[in-house]
Amino acid sequence: MISELKVRHEVRADHARVADIHALAFGKDNPVPALVDDLRSLQGRFETTSLVACSQAGDILAHVMLSSAWVDAPTRMIDVMVLSPLAVHPDHQRANIGTRLLKAAVEAARTLGTPFLFLEGNPKYYRPRGFEMAGSMGFDRPSTRIPEAAFQVVKFDTATAEMTGRLIYREPFWTHDCVGLR
Ligand SMILES: CC(C)(COP(=O)(O)OP(=O)(O)OC[C@H]1O[C@@H](n2cnc3c(N)ncnc32)[C@H](O)[C@@H]1OP(=O)(O)O)[C@@H](O)C(=O)NCCC(=O)NCCS
Repeated sequence: MISELKVRHEVRADHARVADIHALAFGKDNPVPALVDDLRSLQGRFETTSLVACSQAGDILAHVMLSSAWVDAPTRMIDVMVLSPLAVHPDHQRANIGTRLLKAAVEAARTLGTPFLFLEGNPKYYRPRGFEMAGSMGFDRPSTRIPEAAFQVVKFDTATAEMTGRLIYREPFWTHDCVGLR
């Protein structure tokens, strides 16, 4: 168990290690490293936040990315955030690192002032960590290939009742086929 875990913003020198962690955590031929590269390259066009969790010695053990998306609400497009991907190096999984990085990512999203932070993932992991079913809060999935129970959200104080509708992912998620299950 790593007691001293530092969460900080990713810098350029971290990119290769972050790609390795995603390749190891999701599998060698997974498109996640390419998704992360594309999301980074679009920084400036829309909001992205990339966080790494490091050991006391400075080794990067986990990575999480937040990026902006929209909710297509009845009156207007609402800017929201999506959490994807999240991965912990396989040698360090089940040591609470994912939980701690997830908490830091939720706080980062809150600080950005977004009304909602969405993700798709296993509800057994995310529900006890503060995420709720997005479908029962008035949101439609970006794809029916996302199981209803996997489509989850954290609601922040800036949310209002008019903010319902379909979540619309930014283009890199579609380009890299990183939406739902196939
Ligand atoms: C899922 C992941 C981020 C969890 O991080 P972690 O540091 O290993 O997990 P923690 O130590 O914080 O939490 C441990 C708990 O997670 C559960 N868990 C670990 N991996 C899980 C997974 N893939 N699905 C569901 N639960 C998982 C453990 O059973 C344990 O459950 P408990 O809290 O009921 O005891 C990490 O295992 C990982 O990178 N997996 C591969 C990539 C991935 O699936 N990313 C998430 C995509 S949505």
